[in-house]
Amino acid sequence: MSNHEQHDSEHQPVKRKEMSRRQFLSYTLGGTTAFMIGGAVLPMVRFAVDPLLAKGSESALVKVLDENKVTSEPQEVRFKVHQVDAWYESETQKVAWISKDASNKVFALSPICKHLGCTVAWNTHGKSEYDCPCHDARYSKDGKNITVANSPLDEYEVVVKDGVVYLGGIIPNTRA
Ligand code: FES
Repeated sequence: MSNHEQHDSEHQPVKRKEMSRRQFLSYTLGGTTAFMIGGAVLPMVRFAVDPLLAKGSESALVKVLDENKVTSEPQEVRFKVHQVDAWYESETQKVAWISKDASNKVFALSPICKHLGCTVAWNTHGKSEYDCPCHDARYSKDGKNITVANSPLDEYEVVVKDGVVYLGGIIPNTRA
């Protein structure tokens, strides 16, 4: 490049990429709109999702009866559980069959039949078994399935503290 050409190029006006008025308005309005929508929508999203992230309270222990009232003969106990299921809170009535085993340990069985979900009861046929009225499933005192059902009755989590029996959530049978 000659000195003359170099001199000319130094004096050429610098081309700037300028934003047009239309572009400026588009960016400004777009940004403001996005900010306003975000401000309005984010709290709604948080409100909608928050209960799903919160831990349910079903596993809380519920006082059901005094330990000295529990014998080796299963007895039906009804109790209420406060449930929080996402946005819905309710009091649910539960049933447990509570007894003591040979080593005097308290345990509680769920009455929900493992065949198709009917409700079993203790000793309705005088055979010292749990019987299901729907299709004649039978279970031992430990909840072991004897006929019809393919699995044992579930248990409740049991805590005995200061002479009081507390029940928690349903757990798989640990005895049968
Ligand atoms: S539901 Fe209990 S035997 Fe069928």
